[in-house]
Formats: sequence, structure tokens, C-alpha cells
Amino acid sequence: MNPHLALLQPYPFEKLQRLFAGVTPPGDLPPIKLSIGEPQHETPDFIKRTLTENLSGLASYPSTQGSDSLRQAIAAWIGRRYGLPAPDPATQVLPVNGTREALFAFAQTVVDASHASSNHQALVLCPNPFYQIYEGAALLAGAKPIFLNTVPEHGFALDFDALTATEWQRVQLVYVCSPSNPTGKVLDLASWRKLFELSDQYRFVIASDECYSEIYFDQGAQPGPPLGGLQAAKQLGRDDYRNLVMFSSLSKRSNVPGMRSGFVAGDAALIKQFLLYRTYHGGAMSPVVQAASIAAWNDEAHVRDNRRLYAEKFDKVTPLIAQHLDVARPEAGFYLWVSVAKFAPVADTDFARELLRQYNVIVLPGSFLARESGGINPGANFLRIALVASVDECIEAAHRIARFCQKL
Ligand SMILES: Cc1ncc(COP(=O)(O)O)c(C=O)c1O
Repeated sequence: MNPHLALLQPYPFEKLQRLFAGVTPPGDLPPIKLSIGEPQHETPDFIKRTLTENLSGLASYPSTQGSDSLRQAIAAWIGRRYGLPAPDPATQVLPVNGTREALFAFAQTVVDASHASSNHQALVLCPNPFYQIYEGAALLAGAKPIFLNTVPEHGFALDFDALTATEWQRVQLVYVCSPSNPTGKVLDLASWRKLFELSDQYRFVIASDECYSEIYFDQGAQPGPPLGGLQAAKQLGRDDYRNLVMFSSLSKRSNVPGMRSGFVAGDAALIKQFLLYRTYHGGAMSPVVQAASIAAWNDEAHVRDNRRLYAEKFDKVTPLIAQHLDVARPEAGFYLWVSVAKFAPVADTDFARELLRQYNVIVLPGSFLARESGGINPGANFLRIALVASVDECIEAAHRIARFCQKL
């Protein structure tokens, strides 16, 4: 058996199941589930229609590279979204079956684990708290994950100075998540500049997970669309996107998490190797999904509607929770990252369990999304609340959380 499998941690939702074992929620309150980052808004009809109109695609094997028309649609979307010359659809874009599998597979492509001794073992840098796939990908690639804590004292920014030069020398891959799951923090241009400089100096690859990029606030004097990795590269004169690959997805943008459709784009040399890896791994996208994906990337009206719904939820829910807990509207994404530190020694896990027991609201303890690093678990004393349920359910959940806090 692959020995690295034994290094994998239980997934946060397994931990949640264990935490909630034996808890009986009140029967008179309907459950409200805000723990999983699964979009619940309606899948647009035109996407469903395009899927059913293209069922003939089931009769053929797709190529791993995907159709020219899909890669062209994605390249054109990148150009429009980020104000860039469209990347070359032949060499700089690749469809993937959602970012999850791609974020995992990318580490298997990039990491050279041939230096197995512990002093030289390859390092993969992950934000902390983080999307759990990064860690599993690093471990199964034979690397050691190391973590950069993102904490409120530093506005949840990544502090690249926290690593020593010796550590940087061993780093082969850096995952960044912008907008961040769970904090909502967007990497700014200064952070990108620093990261690119480090990448030039130490020759590591950057995997930029941008699957929440389209969930932002675009009304009034809001910050608007989050800066993307390719956009930052271009602004800093890195026209070849060297050592950078961005990961994006339709799951959250278009409410199709079950369709499994996303893309990677960036450095042509990396994409070429990734295509080679995927050819053997079997990463081709169904032609049916390719057709629906083209339709989705070509339409923005449904994405604006989607954003409007999330903005309404944040506008209504955040002030209700902020009366009792330390929370601010995120820069982007659909999570509230809520501090429950004021109720210490009640831990985030106790808070989540009791909230379920007394009010039938399910949220995720922040400590489940982070690892102990530098003597702290930076997710401890936080809750991640995914505003994925309906507007009314989210408001009802906020009222129940408020009542719970008043009793604590
Ligand atoms: C940070 C982050 N990256 C990637 C994904 C994977 O999304 P998908 O595979 O649907 O594109 C998720 C899903 O929740 C996520 O939270």
C-alpha cells in the first residue's frame, strides 16, 4: 500500500460527524446547514438545457486537452474578466473536472520527491487555515506540507517573511487561495510582487486557487472584482506567467458543483507537463460537460444575479451576527469567518456542538480547517459560516446564533 495514504488527516466533515455524534437537535426547529461550501442557488436553466441538448457527446471519448472551442471560450473569458490579452488557448489553458482534482493532480505533476531525507524533503507551502486538498496533494506527492498562518492581527494576509531561507530553498510548490476559503482575504498586488520575487529566487511553482473569484460585491463603492494571479503577473510585467498557474471553476460562479467543470491557465511549460500527466491519469472532461461549460463561461448575467443574492445575505446576516460576535463582511467569497474568542474557554468545537444541540444550526469549527503551526491553531476560536442556504434561512440562522450568544 502507498505509505503516504496513512499520513492523510480525516476530512473536516468527518471530524464534524464525530463532534456531533450523540447530539439531538431540537425537533421543533428545522435544521439549517451552513457548514459545507456547496452552492445552493439554482443552476441556470440554459446550462441544464445545453447539457441535455448535447447528450450525443456521450458517444465519443474526449481528448484530455478538451475541445478547441472550450479552450477558446475560457481564454476569452479570462481576457474579459481580467482585462488581459486572452491567453493562448492552445498552450496556456486546460479544462479540468473541477479545481479539486486539478489542485491535487498538479502537485503530483510538479513535485520532485527524489530527495527523501528529512533535511531535504520537498516542501509544499499552504495557507493555514486552508482547503484540505492542498495538504493531501502534498503528502501523496511525497512532499511535506508546511503552513503559513493567516491571523486577524495581520488582516489574514500571508506573511511570506515567516519562512527561513533554508525552508524557501526546499519549497517546490506554493498554494495560495484568493479569495480565501475561509477568510475571504484577497491577495493584493504587493503580496503577489513579493511571491513572484521569491518564486524567481527559489524557483518554486505557484498554484493560485481562485475558485471563489466571481463571488464578490459589485454594487456601489465596493472593491469590485478580486485581483487574479494572471492579472497581477501581467501588471508586474510577467507576460509569460512563468511558474504560475491559476485554477478556476464554474462550481460557485455558475452554481454547478455537480457538473465538475473548471480550468487551469498560465505558464505554458507547466500546462504542457500537466497535460502529459493528465493524459495518463485520465483527466478528460465529458463532451457534454464541455458544451455546457462553453455556454456558462460565455454568459455573465447569471453570475451577476448570483452575486446579488450573496450580497443580500451578507448585508442582512452580518450585522445581526456582529451584534454578538467579532465578524466582518469578507472581501469576497461566501463565508463568514467569525471569531468566538470572546466566549473562551468555550472552544469553537463546543460552540458548534451546542449551537446544533440547542438551535439546529450547523456551522464548521475553524480549528477543523487548520493545523497547529508555530504553536497555534490559527482556526481555533473561529467558526466558518457558509452563506449558501436561502436568504430567509440564513437570516433565521443569524437570529438563532444571536439567541444562543445571549445565553452563553
Ligand atoms: C478553496 C477551494 N478550492 C477548490 C474547491 C473545489 O471546487 P471545485 O472542485 O468544485 O472547483 C473548493 C470547494 O469547496 C474550495 O473551497
